[in-house]
Amino acid sequence: MAGSSETSKRAAQLAEQLREHSRAYYVDDAPTISDAEYDRLFRELQELEAEHPELITPDSPTQRVGAPPSDKFESVDHATPMLSLGNCFDDDELAEFDRRAREAVDGGALAYCAEPKFDGTALNLRYENGVLVRATTRGDGITGEDITPNARTIRNLPLRLAGDEAPDFIEIRGEVVLARSRFNALNERLESEGQKAFVNPRNAASGSLRQLDSSITARRPLAFMGYGIGRVDGMTLPSSLYEQLQQLQAWGFQISEYVDRVQGLEGCKAYYEAMAERRATLDIEIDGCVFKVDDAAVRDELGFVARAPRWAIARKFPAEETTTRLNAVEFQVGRTGALTPVAKLEPVFVGGVTVSNASLHNMDEIERKDVRIGDMLVVRRAGDVIPEVKEVARRGENATPIQLPEACPVCGSAVERIEGEAVARCTGGLVCAAQRREALKHFASRRALDIEGLGDRQIEAFVDEGLLESPADIFALHSHREALVEREGYGEKSVANLLASIEASKQTTLERFIFALGIREVGETMARDLARHFGSLDNLRAEAEAYLARQARADEQADTKAEHARMMSAEGLQAVPGVGSRVAHCIADFFSEQRNLEVIDALIAAGVVWQTVDSDDTPQPLAGQTFVLTGSMDSLTRDEAKQRIEAQGGRVTSSVSKKTDYVVAGDSPGSKRDKAEKLGVTLLDEAGFLDLLDKAGH
Ligand code: IVH
Repeated sequence: MAGSSETSKRAAQLAEQLREHSRAYYVDDAPTISDAEYDRLFRELQELEAEHPELITPDSPTQRVGAPPSDKFESVDHATPMLSLGNCFDDDELAEFDRRAREAVDGGALAYCAEPKFDGTALNLRYENGVLVRATTRGDGITGEDITPNARTIRNLPLRLAGDEAPDFIEIRGEVVLARSRFNALNERLESEGQKAFVNPRNAASGSLRQLDSSITARRPLAFMGYGIGRVDGMTLPSSLYEQLQQLQAWGFQISEYVDRVQGLEGCKAYYEAMAERRATLDIEIDGCVFKVDDAAVRDELGFVARAPRWAIARKFPAEETTTRLNAVEFQVGRTGALTPVAKLEPVFVGGVTVSNASLHNMDEIERKDVRIGDMLVVRRAGDVIPEVKEVARRGENATPIQLPEACPVCGSAVERIEGEAVARCTGGLVCAAQRREALKHFASRRALDIEGLGDRQIEAFVDEGLLESPADIFALHSHREALVEREGYGEKSVANLLASIEASKQTTLERFIFALGIREVGETMARDLARHFGSLDNLRAEAEAYLARQARADEQADTKAEHARMMSAEGLQAVPGVGSRVAHCIADFFSEQRNLEVIDALIAAGVVWQTVDSDDTPQPLAGQTFVLTGSMDSLTRDEAKQRIEAQGGRVTSSVSKKTDYVVAGDSPGSKRDKAEKLGVTLLDEAGFLDLLDKAGH
């Protein structure tokens, strides 16, 4: 090919220039040429590559625009596990960490590499001979998802390591973040396009990174902040972590400008205070500081506990609080008719987002806190949690008490508040559009029938358009195929996908089906216990009916309350662990309602089937053990933790009592942790919990 060596030389030169300019722009924040000039060079390279596709390299600056969409992410093992971090919330815990670290080496003050803890989503980058070959999410720390095309679109992430010294193989770790300023602009754009806005920069970063269509990721202004190195071959790294970070920077990675080397506990404390002060002004959100023992020899000595190093700790910032005015209270109607009061606040920026709603939980809570409309309230928000009203800061002038409506705000049916129950409910049942809608969302949700593509948003739209009313209608959606294809934002392909996942969801399990029915008080664990105990829906239904008959008999024959309880509790529904009279009532009520039976029949007629339950096939090492989960963990979501406990026969409940066997306290644990301490219930941190699961699993 004539002139091809000239052409390839020019392409390489352009690529190199573009890399340098883009580093100056994105990493160093010091542009060296104008945008127009950059575009000109970029287009020249694009044209060359279009004429000579063989010149396109994976690290070419033109390759950041996104690749064709894929249907799913492949799972990939990390070369070395991605660890989690222990964390602490006060100086005492930090001192304890430092004391243990020093003890292990019998030494004086240790040097720490001090860094901000970025509040984003972790990414592992694999470079071979200096070229980015793969990017994976953290996943469970051992295996992640391959999102290479998406990572390539991140502008400040080098597709090739700068400088001459590149190891044969290296894993670079860091956090993908979205700057606050970018986040606001992104949300404005999404909203103007009629799409849902993200709640915070972290969700926006992880949502954007995990797009099957990388051209969407390419349009999100993500950034990668380097913080560490995994496996490395063919090169000796500096033993100091602080120096390793300087090496990252030399390779073209952006690292925090606040990385520092500090001496001893006092150095850590001073660093934390300084960062806490700075926090609100930073464009990249951070949720704490990370302190890592700087010296390799000491790190080796300290080693690991389960999945976290003993040589590093995150000192987290406390939850953020602020005050704002309560403008009004609205009552939302949930799936079971429960009315939840929602505080409508004067919008205020707290914990990284603008908050205009906060939960007030129920009427008892409102009365206890004596919240009135017009009051100034203390609102708090920690991490990802829904903002809550902590207390009244100041009584408002002319403040008015909050009143429970007598009629449901959605359907107008009467609202009842049963003695001794905090919750008030709409009595409209499935007559109430809000309850119907919530019941449908629950039915299709991941832990119920798990219908992909039929999320909350779709259900709301379908209900509004009259396509859905009861769960069985979901299985008739195929008869509205044409109407669906016509809908905005839909097309042949997405409709075909939706109908396929609806079809697939018909094959389910008894426990999912029972859970999906949305019987009051029957959560996932209870549904599983019922499925295991009764083995079939018919048995469950028969017991529910027998319960009512027995109740009628007890009402008639029992002379005392105790006698009544004895007659009721011996058998049937209440023989299932965890089923007390309250739950039994709800189950019996559900099956005595004709409309519910019609829904069940219609679902079965539509082809929903499940296998019979075999209760004795898996070992149940955690059988009889009760767990309460609080706070968040790095390697597992709450749902995953629950599934793993249940897979081994354990139960997860929501409140701590003397009967609780373990309280698993992750990041930002709530009052449950304190309660566990008070009651002497065994506390497990993430590492301890994973250990227990591992041991039980063997
Ligand atoms: S180091 C061996 N440094 O926090 C230590 N992690 O809780 C492994 N993170 O999933 C992590 N900023 O994604 C480290 N400066 C920083 C960090 C950081 C944020 C995230 C990281 C990890 C999580 C651990």
